[in-house]
Amino acid sequence: MLLSEPGKLYLDLIENCLLGLIYEDPSQDPWSDGGFDRESRMMGRDWPLKAHSMIGKARMSNLRAAVDYVLAHNISGDFIETGVWRGGACILMRAALKAYGIADRIVWAADSFEGLPPPDAVHYAADAGDQHHEFAQLAVSLEEVRSNFAAYGLLDDQVRFLKGWFKDTLPTAPVDQLAILRLDGDMYESTMDGLRSLFHKVSTGGVVIVDDYGAIASCREAVEDYRKEFGIDSPIMPIDGIGIYWIKT
Ligand SMILES: C[S@@+](CC[C@H](N)C(=O)[O-])C[C@H]1O[C@@H](n2cnc3c(N)ncnc32)[C@H](O)[C@@H]1O
Repeated sequence: MLLSEPGKLYLDLIENCLLGLIYEDPSQDPWSDGGFDRESRMMGRDWPLKAHSMIGKARMSNLRAAVDYVLAHNISGDFIETGVWRGGACILMRAALKAYGIADRIVWAADSFEGLPPPDAVHYAADAGDQHHEFAQLAVSLEEVRSNFAAYGLLDDQVRFLKGWFKDTLPTAPVDQLAILRLDGDMYESTMDGLRSLFHKVSTGGVVIVDDYGAIASCREAVEDYRKEFGIDSPIMPIDGIGIYWIKT
């Protein structure tokens, strides 16, 4: 399956819009100076003030390559992201389906739509002291995410929302089969909930992406624990020093 040249240009534009690269949207995270730093945005190291994704150009391009890959290899299944924030990565996946003219795959967007949970250190010691839940910038309502999809003309019945804590929504999510599983929940618990509930639904040849593997030790620990428990030895491929992916074998 090949994408036309206008299709590629459309997705280039969508990527750059989603990341705030065109209008140089400034950052709003506690460690930046509140300006626009192109290098940080390319590498997904800041939280944009208005742009619809914080994953940066390298990880956004990796996601697009994953879509190209599963379509080129006829890997069956829907696409899901667990941890969507303003929806940007899911918007990219929906846009890609549109560009390819594919109408029989769903993009699932799973999130509390109210930020991260407080750490449950009793069950997940690796999350002890985690402060992500304290950042109001990370809480984006379902209404706002729907309206972001609509702004791109991409809010339709090929997009489904799973609202709530992953531990409550993912085990019973009405998802049959996945070609792409993108985990972006930052914490050990959030990453492990995604793997436990969804990994077995990923088709052979499907792509598993972990956004925070290189940046957040507890996230990496969850991935390592899960892979060890289930004897997964597919090579981990680095993306940009933070994100990683592997192909399910
Ligand atoms: C880093 S942001 C995701 C960034 C997004 N992928 C993007 O494209 O910019 C993390 C998101 O995960 C969600 N999240 C983390 N843990 C969660 C959990 N256990 N249950 C539900 N949502 C969770 C938060 O609400 C937040 O929206």
